Order: sequence, then structure tokens, then C-alpha cells
Amino acid sequence: MNDILPGESSSWQYLEDTLREVVHAYGYQEIRLPLLEQTELFKRSIGEVTDIVEKEMYTFDDRNGDSLTLRPEGTASCVRACMQHGLLYNQLQRLWYAGPMFRHERPQKGRYRQFHQIGIEAFGMAGPDIDAEIIFMSARMWERLGLRDAVLQINSLGTLAARAEYRTALVAYLRKHESGLDEDSRRRLDSNPLRILDSKNPEMQELIGAAPRLPDYLDDESRQHFSELCALLDNAGVAYEVNPRLVRGLDYYTKTVFEWVTDQLGAQGTICAGGRYDGLVEYLGGKPTPAFGFALGLERLLALLQAGKVDIPQHHPHVYLVLNGLQAVQHGMVFAEDLRNALPGMRLLTNCGNGSFKSQFKRADRSGAGIALVMGDNEVREGTVILKSLRDETEQETVLQQHVAARIHAVIEAG
Ligand code: HAM
Repeated sequence: MNDILPGESSSWQYLEDTLREVVHAYGYQEIRLPLLEQTELFKRSIGEVTDIVEKEMYTFDDRNGDSLTLRPEGTASCVRACMQHGLLYNQLQRLWYAGPMFRHERPQKGRYRQFHQIGIEAFGMAGPDIDAEIIFMSARMWERLGLRDAVLQINSLGTLAARAEYRTALVAYLRKHESGLDEDSRRRLDSNPLRILDSKNPEMQELIGAAPRLPDYLDDESRQHFSELCALLDNAGVAYEVNPRLVRGLDYYTKTVFEWVTDQLGAQGTICAGGRYDGLVEYLGGKPTPAFGFALGLERLLALLQAGKVDIPQHHPHVYLVLNGLQAVQHGMVFAEDLRNALPGMRLLTNCGNGSFKSQFKRADRSGAGIALVMGDNEVREGTVILKSLRDETEQETVLQQHVAARIHAVIEAG
């Protein structure tokens, strides 16, 4: 779990602001959800025999003896909240959320125990048009961030019935070749055989390559849904790869699944993942409701931005106010407030704690401000302030206090 230090928070804000703008451009509304839920909700939604539920949840009993879990993802909470507040009755919903998620995984580059997601969930729309809209939205996010080399992989898992049939065929095949399976896969053979296809073990790749293929077992409806989605993506010029082995680590998916993957982040190259989960609302006790969504990992995106040397705007102060002398402090504190009233977008740092001119200028420099305003007792008497650029060699000038706001405005506008 990481602290996000002051030097990093500008990058986080830039990333969050940019992504929020994209989400709002598609008319999605924010939903804010609690960090804790009943453990049962995650067990039922994500699946009892998934890595997340088996090994990774932060679960504890509260004072009433109820089992609670720090959310490992947002979809389950979002569905729970929508059902609880009647948001799914004859309504379409396009929602988004952001915040920390918690998984007790082995930490490594790009994988943390507290990490941050932005998630999108749409309810009530069964056709491939909403799949396409949400994938377009994700593509637009990378474009806005200047990320060029993420690859879109898509697949269809079919309906639950089609997947059950495929599962039977796959298990029969894997049983025949059980001696070639590693320990992890043997354990999954009964519980979650589809995940064996996800194995990165090089010694099993041949065996996996020759296994029955999920696309051969798809039902007609899923096949049609998938081909219509592909046509929508083609029409919009969104490039994709069909990856028949893409199965996802959560149980609730049906039909479309997708991931955006990059090779710039080592082993943790998935920056965004999701798909359709038409059965989940009903499974949790609601009316049958089609649904589609994804979540992206902010830490991974940030690492990509940093690796790509994308210029991230920093929120340095524009102005540092140097105050020298008792009168100057008395007068300058009020002067600073007036200036903030006059220029609401300006960031002004007032020197507090006195200090010599030299040490105040050092602080001004370290703050990253572009302009220093200097006020001593002399300037107070004369109703002036000295304006000095901290970024170039322009001569300092003495400005009447009532003209300072206009001067600073002009300097900020000029960049
Ligand atoms: P997920 O694939 O488990 O899906 O996570 C989505 C994204 O969160 C990953 O692609 C990755 O970028 C990021 N992520 C996951 N675990 C970690 C970690 N330990 N450290 C850093 N980043 C991580 C879901 O969570 C689904 N709820 C997505 C969804 C929404 N499906 C439908 N709607």
C-alpha cells in the first residue's frame, strides 16, 4: 500500500481530471460506494473459487460479528447499490466510480495491495452497441493521455449454458493430459478449469494450445453479438485482436470480455479490463438485467505516462509573497487575501515564519512559483510591492498595490 506524496499528487490529479472529462463526455454519472461490503457479496459475485476470493481478500469480523471485506473491486458494490436503491427498475444506467481497491496479492511493479481504479458500469442494455460505446470510451482515454501502444484484446465467453458445455469438453481434454499439468492447474481442474488457459507456465503452452477452443462452443446468439461488436469496432477504426484464450479472473462475465494490454509494464501489462455480465444482477436477487463495464488501474496508467515522458502539468504556485518586517506581515496577509479575491484561479503562497530575504527567496524558488512579490515596511508605507520574475532575468519593477492583480493576470496569461 503506497502513500501518494505531494510531489506525485499533481500527476494523479491530471490523470483523474483527464479521465473524468472523457467519462463525462459520454454522459456517465458518478456513483460513490463504500469501501466495505458484506463478505458474502464478493463471494457470490466474483466467485468462490477465484484467486481474489480464495486468497486475496481483506476480510474481518466487525463488532457485531458480521463478516466484512475491503472491496477488491467495484462491480459487486455497484450492482448491490443499484439494486438496493431501485436504480434498475425500467431504467438504463450509465455509471462510473473511482477509488481504492484492496487485494492481498504479492506486491510487484504494477501490482499493489491498495490500488486505484476508475470503473464504468452500464445497466439495462443488451446489445453490442453499448459494448462498443464503452470500448470507444476506453480508446479515447488512451488517446487523450497520449498513450499509443496499448493493444485491445477481445473475446466472447458465450452464455452460461454455452460455457458450461465448453467447460465439460475442456475438463475431459485436460483430464486426459493431467500428467502435463502443473500443481496450480491440477487444483483448478475441478474448481475453475477455464483459468488454466490463462497459465503463463511455458511448459504447458503446447498442451493449452491444443485444447478445445471456446469459440467453437459459442451459441448462435453470442456469436452474432460478437460479430456485430466487431463490425462496430471496424466501422469506428478501433483496432483489436481476437484472443480466444482471454477468459478473465472473475466469474460473472458472459459474452464479450476485453482487455487493453501493453508490453511496457513487464508482467502486469493489463491497464484496463472488463466485459459483459448479464447474469449478475439476477444472481444477486434482482430482475434479469444486462450489464457491461470495465475498470482501469490508475497506478499502471501513471507508470505508462511517466515511462512515455508525457508532460504532466504541475500545480506549482504562480506567486510567492515575500514579507519582510512586522508592518509587512500585518499588511501583507490582508493584501494576499485581496489578491486571491481578485484572481480566483491564481495560486499564491505567502511566506509564513519570517526569515531573511535570502531564505525567503530560497523558499520561493523551491516552491516552483514563477513570480515573487516582495513587500517590506517601506513598500507598505508607499502602497507598492516589488514584482520580480523567478524564471528569467527580467528587471524587477515596483508596482502600485492596486495594479498588482492586473499585472499578475497578464503575466499568467502570457504563460
Ligand atoms: P480486474 O481485471 O480485476 O477487473 O481489474 C481491472 C484493472 O485493475 C486491471 O486491469 C488493472 O489495471 C487494475 N488492477 C487490478 N489489480 C491490481 C493490483 N493489485 N494493483 C494494481 N492494479 C490492479 C475488475 O476489477 C472488474 N471489476 C472490472 C469490471 C467492471 N468488469 C465489469 N465491470
